[in-house]
Amino acid sequence: MHPTDALRGTRSKALEGKRIALGITGSIAAVECFELARELIRHGAQVHAVLSEDAAKLVTPWAMEFATGNPVIEVIDGMVQHVSMLGDTEGKADLLLIAPSTANTISKIACGIDDTPVTTMATTAIGSHTPVIVAPAMHLAMYQNPFVKRNLEALTSAGVELVGPRIEGKKAKVAENDEIVARVIRRIGRRDLVGRKVLVIGGSSEEPIDEMRVITNRGTGATGVQLALAAFHRGAEVELWMGRCQVPIPGFLGAKRFATVADLLRLVKAEKEHDIVIVPAALGDYAPQASKGKILSGRKDLDLTLLPLPKVLEALRPKAKVLVGFKAEHGLEEKELVARAKRKLDSVPLEMVVANDLRSVGLDITRALIVTPKRETVRFEGRKSELADRVLDQVLQLKG
Ligand SMILES: Cc1cc2nc3c(=O)[nH]c(=O)nc-3n(C[C@H](O)[C@H](O)[C@H](O)COP(=O)(O)O)c2cc1C
Repeated sequence: MHPTDALRGTRSKALEGKRIALGITGSIAAVECFELARELIRHGAQVHAVLSEDAAKLVTPWAMEFATGNPVIEVIDGMVQHVSMLGDTEGKADLLLIAPSTANTISKIACGIDDTPVTTMATTAIGSHTPVIVAPAMHLAMYQNPFVKRNLEALTSAGVELVGPRIEGKKAKVAENDEIVARVIRRIGRRDLVGRKVLVIGGSSEEPIDEMRVITNRGTGATGVQLALAAFHRGAEVELWMGRCQVPIPGFLGAKRFATVADLLRLVKAEKEHDIVIVPAALGDYAPQASKGKILSGRKDLDLTLLPLPKVLEALRPKAKVLVGFKAEHGLEEKELVARAKRKLDSVPLEMVVANDLRSVGLDITRALIVTPKRETVRFEGRKSELADRVLDQVLQLKG
């Protein structure tokens, strides 16, 4: 057993059973490839690195052999590796990912030239209708070259997916590894939410006391991020609206931010219908009348009158075919937690409620009870990313 096998599937099973040919070309961004291959493997994939001659000057074949646990393809020889890997044959790879891709390789592929191991793989993959994802990386001047632009367009019109680049200063940088991995999962993963519009509202609301201080809560935003990511992985058209958040939000999810419940209600008002709306957000139930400036410190006491805030789920009801709410409580017996979740299910009404105990907030492992419209209770314990997939599985069962 190669040490890499111990890594496979430790993050998720999203790419379990998938074979990915990873084409690497002569961009300095090739140094990111070791970690990219490892991340794909952590999601369950088998990865086969294919190096151009120039890529092999920047990353060593041994490093990629170690990273993937598979032999590296540096030449196409009598074993016709392009045919067995990506030709119209049984057991071919599920995807050709070229990351990073130089201007040179992009332009050759667009012209049907295949004089390197990577371009030969690309010509074969496109001809055998195997999915191809290309992550361009180059100097901005190269990216702005009209021939390179035209060749990128030619790739897109042939069904090749582009991820990135990120324009920063004078560089068209390769996309971040987390975006590349998410796009790979979206392209060859479960794809059971393709064509569905999913809105996730996560994070905590912040209600101002004065212009400096706020009332908020201990929600981290992590469940919202994981739900949006899971829906993205499964092919949905995802929107993420995020309040105060203590975990990183992947840039490619393009989150809209809100602070107060009133801000959120404005977003809801302007919104059209979504197929599925999931609301793990920890929203305030009460808010003070905000004071102007900063309330002076040093007072003997200070009374704040809190007034009830409108219920966002009720405003969302007409905008959602399926509406999933979360019920967070603290220190309740399971029976009482379920009873409260059921009351919430009926009162809005909702299609599903995920009830959790706030004692698990901030922890990696979370515990939750998913209450379905048939009054069944599904118990869950695991990572937040797994909870996100479980909630989406339950939603898909609803739509049955
Ligand atoms: C250190 C170094 C970094 C390079 N980075 C890039 C790059 O990011 N993008 C690019 O298009 N070319 C880059 N080049 C130029 C390519 O390596 C060159 O065009 C080469 O012919 C590409 O061959 P390949 O596409 O078969 O790998 C770089 C060259 C060197 C020496």
